[in-house]
Amino acid sequence: MKILVTGVNGLVGNSIIKILSKSEHEVFKSSRKIEGLADHKVDITSKDDLELFFAKFNPDVVINSAAMANVDLCETEKKSCDDVNINGVRNLVDVCLKYNCHLTHISTDYIFDGQKKSGIYLESDAPSPQGYYAKSKLEGERIITSSNLKYSILRTILVYGMHEKLNIVTYIKKSLEEGNIISLVDDQIRMPTYVDDLSAACVSASEKNAIGIFNVCGPEQMSYLEIGNRIADYFTLDKNLINHVKTKDLNQRALRPFKTGFDLEKSIKFLDYNPTSFNNSLDLMFNGN
Ligand SMILES: NC(=O)c1ccc[n+]([C@@H]2O[C@H](COP(=O)([O-])OP(=O)(O)OC[C@H]3O[C@@H](n4cnc5c(N)ncnc54)[C@H](OP(=O)(O)O)[C@@H]3O)[C@@H](O)[C@H]2O)c1
Repeated sequence: MKILVTGVNGLVGNSIIKILSKSEHEVFKSSRKIEGLADHKVDITSKDDLELFFAKFNPDVVINSAAMANVDLCETEKKSCDDVNINGVRNLVDVCLKYNCHLTHISTDYIFDGQKKSGIYLESDAPSPQGYYAKSKLEGERIITSSNLKYSILRTILVYGMHEKLNIVTYIKKSLEEGNIISLVDDQIRMPTYVDDLSAACVSASEKNAIGIFNVCGPEQMSYLEIGNRIADYFTLDKNLINHVKTKDLNQRALRPFKTGFDLEKSIKFLDYNPTSFNNSLDLMFNGN
């Protein structure tokens, strides 16, 4: 298949390219500028970029990992957030419809308010987004699901892995190694997702031309504090550097759901999804086994 990947310099895009490099597919690596891994300029907010690319290469699938994913920044830069997470998605839908291309898109647990007692959401649960980022991502989903497009939407949760920008795991490990005090909440609970698992699921959904919404996350539910403790245990680092705090102490700009997690039955059944345990993902990230 000919696969266009957008946003390849991001955490998820980077990993998708890694997974696809082991496949037989013809892969086009793009971002809004030709830099890093990207050798095609495809800014998803530019209809011209998309039209030019599709007219020349006519891909079978687009995997869209481009987004404005900084949750707090979206609260203050609402126009940029709308441009990428809403208008960019609309542009992708239009061009994919015109060229009969499958769109594999990534969304978020933040479309839920986190008030469900179990914190385990089904694909069919009613969304209730809290912050601006969450609302923009839900709007992106709605544009896709209300179109006649062949699409898969993979919703995911707190993604981590090896990348030049820090994420929850690399931030905690680096901070503790450097002897820095960090604050981690015990009242926000997630099912953290190893990025290569998400990427494998995106590739699987694309290869199968899977249609619909799919939950994709890690197999264990834990608070940010527990993530910190697990990392400290794994690398024998000093847990005393971790301040136990509550969400209200952090003054985060965007509201976040308290407790999220996903029922994974659908993606296990239809995408052959096989999530890696948290400790095994640390083995893969830091010991390469
Ligand atoms: N990370 C998480 O914990 C998490 C959780 C749930 C869902 N998600 C979703 O997962 C997806 C990937 O997120 P991520 O964590 O990989 O984010 P990321 O690391 O910020 O990567 C996003 C990439 O998109 C690129 N981009 C931004 N605007 C663009 C545009 N107009 N055209 C083309 N590329 C553009 C960025 O380019 P620059 O490098 O130039 O900035 C960046 O490389 C997003 O849909 C996000 O909502 C992420």
